[in-house]
Amino acid sequence: TRGFTVAIDGPAASGKGTISKAVAEHFGFAHLDTGLLYRAVGAKVLLGIEPVAAARALVPEDLDSDALRTPEIAQEASKVAALPEVRAALVDFQRSFAARAGGAVLDGRDIGTVICPAAQVKLFVIADAVVRARRRFAELTEKGIQTTFEDVLADVHARDERDMGRVDAPLRAADDAVEIDTTEMKIADAVAAAVALIEAKR
Ligand code: C5P
Repeated sequence: TRGFTVAIDGPAASGKGTISKAVAEHFGFAHLDTGLLYRAVGAKVLLGIEPVAAARALVPEDLDSDALRTPEIAQEASKVAALPEVRAALVDFQRSFAARAGGAVLDGRDIGTVICPAAQVKLFVIADAVVRARRRFAELTEKGIQTTFEDVLADVHARDERDMGRVDAPLRAADDAVEIDTTEMKIADAVAAAVALIEAKR
């Protein structure tokens, strides 16, 4: 499975992260949540560092922190993600990860379209925005982060618009991506669907 790449894209809280983790475990592939790259840059910008310099100086250890999963950092991440020079600084790391021996799963917004256009499997995971906001609200509440459903829904809409509306690498399905709509799906069924699609291409 040298160079076997699975690209999983979709909007915030669509279920792509959960599906990616599960299929990586199932097949023994390495997994990269590429949103963490933009979150790590966003976190540095919130500390006063210039975005392009922050992106160029990023090291893998910057991605380890659970502290990157706050709504403030998510919003800042989607702002820095609109900057072409930030995106360009992160391309090589993602492509090397994708090419590693043993197979890799990368999830994000532009993996199937820009980072790994030759990926053997491309999935585009979507769900209704209200359902996504409900999931994200439950996640944040469980982590002890104080917020309201209305704020989370507004954040989801704001990020969707920014991610789909930017000029460089906007969020969209690659022509050859398979869509999985998780709005009314149990997570186990979504994972099973993804596993079957990958199995068919191996
Ligand atoms: O996936 P996650 O919600 O952690 O991503 C945070 C933000 O990073 C997204 O809203 C998006 O703006 C940006 N992102 C991106 N391209 C990717 C992954 C994430 O622009 N491949």
